This record gives sequence, structure tokens and C-alpha cells, in this order.
Amino acid sequence: MNPTSTVAMISIFLLIFFSVPHTVLTLSVFTQLQLPPNVTGPEALAFDLLGGGPYTGVSDGRVLKYGGPSTGFTDFAYTTPTRTKAVCDGTTDPNSGPTCGRPLGVGFNYRTGQLYIADAYSGLLVVGSNGGLATPLASTAEGVPFRFLNSLDVDQLTGNVYFTDASSVYELRDITQAVENNDASGRLLKYDPSTKQVTVLIRGLSGPAGAAVSRDGSFVLVSEFIANRTHKFWLRGPKANTSELFFTFQGRPDNIKTSTTDTFWVAVNIGKSVPTTVPTGQRLDAYGNVLQTVNFEAEYGSTMISEVQGRGERSLCVGSRDTRYVGVYTLKVLKK
Ligand SMILES: *[C@@H]1O[C@H](CO)[C@@H](O)[C@H](O)[C@H]1NC(C)=O
Ligand SMILES: *[C@@H]1O[C@H](CO)[C@@H](O)[C@H](O)[C@H]1NC(C)=O
Ligand SMILES: *[C@@H]1O[C@H](CO)[C@@H](O)[C@H](O)[C@H]1NC(C)=O
Repeated sequence: MNPTSTVAMISIFLLIFFSVPHTVLTLSVFTQLQLPPNVTGPEALAFDLLGGGPYTGVSDGRVLKYGGPSTGFTDFAYTTPTRTKAVCDGTTDPNSGPTCGRPLGVGFNYRTGQLYIADAYSGLLVVGSNGGLATPLASTAEGVPFRFLNSLDVDQLTGNVYFTDASSVYELRDITQAVENNDASGRLLKYDPSTKQVTVLIRGLSGPAGAAVSRDGSFVLVSEFIANRTHKFWLRGPKANTSELFFTFQGRPDNIKTSTTDTFWVAVNIGKSVPTTVPTGQRLDAYGNVLQTVNFEAEYGSTMISEVQGRGERSLCVGSRDTRYVGVYTLKVLKK
């Protein structure tokens, strides 16, 4: 593999990107972290405790780790014992998922160093910090098998894992029908590593595509991709175990990521005229106020994005099921 699989500086454009004083000129530099040959779909992104990564699950079933510009992406983990590199690496067969795996949600428990994985076909798994074959943890909840695991987040205070089964009827490869038929059989789930039990928190969700727990562990947000909205499920306090509508978007929300400041980045694809879409990132506070909207159209065109993740104050990473790269926007502040 070509070690320099990073192509930098596709475009540079002027933009007031983060909240900085108007008098300061800011440049946002867009970099593409290229995936290995024939591989697409870095749907979700995770970073380890030391900031290493991104780690991402891709179309051919691997979880890859980015090791910097000279290393590029290398194999980290996989989710099925049936996966062979000869058959699966670079495969573009949409029916390869059950054999090769299709990891979507990824998230670290920083205390244990373990990476939790929500695989669309293989259920909830976990792998140690050295990677390799992941261990299955659960494939069913309250008697209903997982059909299409999609997203995941780890509560760093308790170790509980919050994740979504996008549908109890449709698999990932039938996602178009799920949307056309307004499927509402998805669930928000919780895995407790101390009891190894899975609990259903919300059922009847319409394409739950993203979940994120607040930093203080008091609530978890879940997005409904098909119904264009987000709910807040209270984990603690007077409203514990109840959910309420959090925010309704103009487009389809996908993954949600808690940012360092306890605000939330949501990847939102806004329909303009069929079939074009405007990929955006919207940052919301804990009360459902939109603090910021970033438009990615200049670099992504009408490609749908699936994740926006803040990295510190000055950088945003973008995942998509339809790209051959992970996008990174870095803010440069020019002082005159
Ligand atoms: C890449 O994909 C093409 C078609 O999509 C296929 O013919 C080719 O064998 C693939 N390459 C690898 C390395 O899998
Ligand atoms: C919430 O549900 C959990 C699990 O069913 C239960 O242990 C807890 O007591 C409930 N809390 C409240 C405030 O209802
Ligand atoms: C959700 O958003 C998409 C894209 O903007 C739009 O096409 C669709 O009609 C919306 N659905 C609902 C229920 O609002």
C-alpha cells in the first residue's frame, strides 16, 4: 500500500468558521485522509485516549486506524470470524456485510482502552486496544434480534454503552426501502458492561442513526434519520427514564457527537431539490438551541455526510458513507 495515502489541501476557502472576532481573518483548510484502495464509507469516527486515530469502520468490513500522513490507514479490527482478507479487502459487494462485517458505530471506553463497535450485521462487539477480532457482546434485546445496528457512544463515567438498532425490519442493504416506507421500528439501547445486560430505552424510533450521551451522564440524545428529529432520554434526575422531543431539523440527522464543551455536533443532510442534498454540521447546546451551522457543500457537493466531530477548538472531522476519505477542516487564524 502507498504509505503516503494522505492528500492534503484540496481547497482553501474563506469562511467565518468558528466563533472568532470579525476582525480576524480565518482560513479553513480542508484535508482528505484517503482510505485504502476500493474502500469507502467512513461512517463514524473515534479517537483513542491519546488522541490517536481517527478509527473508522469501512465498507469492506474493517475497522481502520489512521496513523498520520506517512502511515495512512492500517487494519485495526474486524467483527466476524468469517472475514478473510483475500475475500473481503476492497470488496464492493453490498451483500458481503454478513460475511465480512460492516462496522458503523465506534467508540472508546477511555478507562479500559477498549473499542466498542456497533456492526450493522454482527451486533454489538468490543475489541482491546491492540485490535484484532472483536468479541461479540449482544445480538438481541428483550427477545427482538438486532437487525441494523448503526451508532454508539460510551458514557465515560459509568462505562455504559448507548447504541441504536436503526430498524427491526430492514437491514442496512435495504435502507432505501426503510426510508420510503417510513419505518418506525428502531430502538435506542443500553449495554451495561457490569451486568452484560441490554435494556431497551426507547422503541418505535424512525431510523435512529445517531446517539450521544452528555458529559455528565444525565441524558442521551438519539436522532431519527427518517423523521428528521432528535429526542432526549433522561438517565438521571426527576425525569429519569422519560424522553422528550429535543430538536426537529430541516433535513435528515445522522450521527451526534458530544463536543468537549458539552455541546453536540449533528450531521444534517438538508434536501434542496430532489435528489440533491446540502451536507451540513449543526452544533446544538444541551437545551436544543442551534449555536452554529457549517455548510460542507463546497467540498462535498451533494454527498450525504454521516458524522461531524469537533477536535479541540480548531478542527472538525467529517464522516460519510459515500466517500473514499475522512474529511478534516482545520481553522487557521491569520494575524495581521
Ligand atoms: C475494486 O473494485 C472493482 C469494481 O468495483 C473490482 O473489479 C476490483 O477487483 C476491486 N479491487 C480489489 C482490490 O478488490
Ligand atoms: C429507571 O429505570 C431503571 C431500570 O428499569 C430503574 O432501575 C430506575 O429505578 C428507574 N428510575 C426512575 C427514576 O424511574
Ligand atoms: C426530512 O428531510 C428530508 C431532507 O431535507 C426531506 O426530503 C423530508 O421530506 C423530510 N421529512 C420529514 C418528515 O420532514
